[in-house]
Amino acid sequence: MPKHIGIIMDGNGRWAKERGLPRTYGHVEGAKVFRKISDYCHDIGIEVVTFYAFSTENWRRPPTEVAALMKLFKEYLVEADEIKFDRQKSGLILRFLGDTSAIPKELQKLVGATQLDAISPDTTIINIALNYGGRQEILRSVKQIAEKVEKGELKASNITEDDISAGLYTAGMPDPDLIIRPSGELRLSNFLTWQSAYSELYFADVLWPDFTTDDLDAAIMDYAKRNRRFGGV
Ligand code: IPE
Ligand code: IPE
Ligand code: MG
Repeated sequence: MPKHIGIIMDGNGRWAKERGLPRTYGHVEGAKVFRKISDYCHDIGIEVVTFYAFSTENWRRPPTEVAALMKLFKEYLVEADEIKFDRQKSGLILRFLGDTSAIPKELQKLVGATQLDAISPDTTIINIALNYGGRQEILRSVKQIAEKVEKGELKASNITEDDISAGLYTAGMPDPDLIIRPSGELRLSNFLTWQSAYSELYFADVLWPDFTTDDLDAAIMDYAKRNRRFGGV
């Protein structure tokens, strides 16, 4: 079983277009699937699931679509807060990865409110990558290291891979074993750039709003058959 699964929730727009609906409808359906898959991952004992919800590049979309997405995130967060999206009730802990400084103020407050630290073993950590970019994340970590070097706290020659990992949003979590991308696109689109160095990739020809627990099972079965060598033999 993978400990950490990354999921790129892609294909909402095409799903809506196929039905002659505005793209926003696809995002609403996609959010429902997010909830269902989160619960299922907890049922089957996955430790960490990282969902890609909004990239640093997604600001390039029309302002109306961006606004609709922010509204949806907000609704979801309020709901999550109300049902106390915590380990007692749902076995899930919601966390955020990404630069939250650029997202609307009211959303920022909610993001802070649902960030939890104490984690029991049967809890599934649900990371939502929001205004997340893999390169931005690496750059941020490198800047933190550079500041330590400037202050004389660290020698450049002593910088390790662990130092870079420690400055990422995923600090303290295992790297993703499996990354799943639905929608038929064969790329990572700036998702977990550092952490995916040895991830197994799985591409599904289904649009995210149509993604089911069976699709997740299929991805995990495929993963189980793979031989992870990490450069060895
Ligand atoms: C993914 O679906 C959701 C976000 C990127 C926010 P898309 O909106 O990218 O859907 P397609 O790829 O256009 O179908
Ligand atoms: C990646 O999907 C980002 C999210 C799913 C949040 P995109 O739809 O933005 O990726 P590209 O533009 O097709 O690479
Ligand atoms: Mg897309």
